[in-house]
Amino acid sequence: MSVSGKKILIAVSGGIAAYKIHFLIRDFVKKGAEVQVIMTPDAEHFVTKLSLSTLSKKPVYSDFYGDNGSWNSHVELALWADVMLVTPCTANTLSKMIHGMCDNLVIATYMSAKCPVFIAPAMDLDMYVHPSTKKNIELAESFGHTIIPAENGELASGLIGQGRMAEPETIFNAVENYFKTETNGKSLEGKTVLITAGPTYEAIDPVRFIGNHSSGKMGFSLAEEASKRGAKVILISGPSAQVIHDENVELHKVTSAKEMLAKVFEFYDTIDIGIASAAVADYAPKEVAKEKIKKNDENLTIELVKNPDILKTMGEKKTHQFLVGFALETQNEEENAKGKLEKKNLDMIVLNSLRDEGAGFKNDTNKIKIFTKTEKTEFNLKSKDEVAKDILNFVEAQLLK
Ligand code: C5P
Repeated sequence: MSVSGKKILIAVSGGIAAYKIHFLIRDFVKKGAEVQVIMTPDAEHFVTKLSLSTLSKKPVYSDFYGDNGSWNSHVELALWADVMLVTPCTANTLSKMIHGMCDNLVIATYMSAKCPVFIAPAMDLDMYVHPSTKKNIELAESFGHTIIPAENGELASGLIGQGRMAEPETIFNAVENYFKTETNGKSLEGKTVLITAGPTYEAIDPVRFIGNHSSGKMGFSLAEEASKRGAKVILISGPSAQVIHDENVELHKVTSAKEMLAKVFEFYDTIDIGIASAAVADYAPKEVAKEKIKKNDENLTIELVKNPDILKTMGEKKTHQFLVGFALETQNEEENAKGKLEKKNLDMIVLNSLRDEGAGFKNDTNKIKIFTKTEKTEFNLKSKDEVAKDILNFVEAQLLK
């Protein structure tokens, strides 16, 4: 489902990124959406009403009052919209939205809106990481708004960091995805999704194993979200304390990497999407002692041999499957993640941050970056349930291309 026939209200605030809005309007109009632009008084310093109205084919408003004693009704504008996009959203406009500082047409319209609101912040890097902005972004998310995070790169100030407004294509995709799931709800109907999750345990003897701290939360969240969207879900999990609440998810419990590989390939030919979120042990003991190893000597040497790389094998045998991998890196994270995308023949890779507090492995939250062969998208720190939505939205957008 595209944006065709949808009513998009774009509120532009006063940042240099406002110049990118022309491309966004053009994309929406090209795809058959109706676009209404409003702007803050400051935005007029950056872009002209004439250029925006030429592209949107509608008058652009920045004031409550028109030239001929007419009144630009913020309530009508707000109720007209199927979605409202605040883009670029400056620190000032974000703060006014959060605190209800209703001193211009954009904020009055925002406060009258009943539709979903998307916010694409744009500001200098220090403003973006300021506790006040961080808090306002959190509050906006708690209001149910969707934040399209700023990207890393060169900023108007000449500094380099996070603060650049997301590219028009990213904003367009976020809105298009919303309409797809909103109108259908079952956006993955007819698709079979296989997900690997949790750690693997590699036996040393009948009572001991080599394992890792993976909780399996990310994979279980992905499984529930994919099932909610109508997919047939096959979840293959190593030992994990997680439980599945959705009885439609087909859960297969395994212990070792070899068992996980065998289980994956029972289903591989039938799946459309494969997501490998398991933290598979890279090595396993060469031999498993039949009896419990006694503590006789001072030292104990266990010879380890390489485990099969499940995802790499999936990549080698890929015919039609869309493959998603995960990467957790401690150095050269982006380069290594992109390397894995190539080496394992993946369509997309999710880089977990180890640098951000609260992100990764055992936590309930995660902060990810997604790479395809041509794109890079960064996301904020979110609960793993929300991260699962972002990942599946991204997969769906890729499948539509
Ligand atoms: O190579 P590395 O272990 O960093 O790659 C991580 C990705 O590969 C994850 O998606 C993980 O689930 C998958 N993987 C796998 N089998 C392995 C090792 C990793 O499927 N033996």
